[in-house]
Amino acid sequence: MEVVIKETYEEVSKAAAALMRHVLNAKPNAVLGLATGSTPLGLYAEMARMHREEGLDFTHVTTFNLDEYVGLPASHPQSYRTFMEKNLFQHINIQHQNTHVPSGTTGNYRAFCEWYEQRIKEVGGIDLQVLGIGSDGHIGFNEPTSSLNSRTRLKTLAEPTINDNARFFDRREDVPIYAITMGVGTILEAKQVLLVANGANKAECVAGMIEGPITAMNTASALQLHPRCTVFIDRPAASKLKMLDYYLWVQAKKPHAPY
Ligand code: GLP
Repeated sequence: MEVVIKETYEEVSKAAAALMRHVLNAKPNAVLGLATGSTPLGLYAEMARMHREEGLDFTHVTTFNLDEYVGLPASHPQSYRTFMEKNLFQHINIQHQNTHVPSGTTGNYRAFCEWYEQRIKEVGGIDLQVLGIGSDGHIGFNEPTSSLNSRTRLKTLAEPTINDNARFFDRREDVPIYAITMGVGTILEAKQVLLVANGANKAECVAGMIEGPITAMNTASALQLHPRCTVFIDRPAASKLKMLDYYLWVQAKKPHAPY
């Protein structure tokens, strides 16, 4: 795992965007895995800026989102489809038919999940998977004790996740309790992974992910098995890392990295 530590959230977002640009320049028809949550917002704003000001082209890009709440139609203000439209897709020249977000309203979840996995394979797999991390260490909605080999499926959300996400809804009771999420196994098959995290409330799960044992109690720790995973974090999120000095040393010895 490559650990990139920046002073501020803004720098984290810019560094992650530099890696994104690097991938898109090398492969203009790249397949991107995308995440929701507050953390990738800075990265998405940078992607929109690079499109506007530098002509970064998304015409041939395909995207797959990690997850969606079950029970929310795509048009719901809190659906992850709405989130993606509002925070990224509307601001870049991506073709709507190339964007995939799991359906929260399908009549047959099992068949839908199989189709989603199949569709990812048909387009040649995910080139770059963007991830955030939940305070309990989840990636996508792979809550603690999810199988580290899991595929896209229906998951019941853990209480801390419902509490964390209640801030986006009028009432806590409105937060859906089920979601469709890519599995940890699905995520590990991406050719490259980029994870962003910021803030002191992520320090513990970030330390578990990078330095803890690989455990289903922190599903992000499975990324230790991935051969090309770069984690971009700010100082507060890095504050519980035992090997902090080592990561900073490695970073200083890579002056030509794109970020
Ligand atoms: C949700 C999403 C995750 C995301 C997490 C953290 O649970 N399913 O993909 O990483 O929230 O969100 P935030 O970035 O707002 O802390």
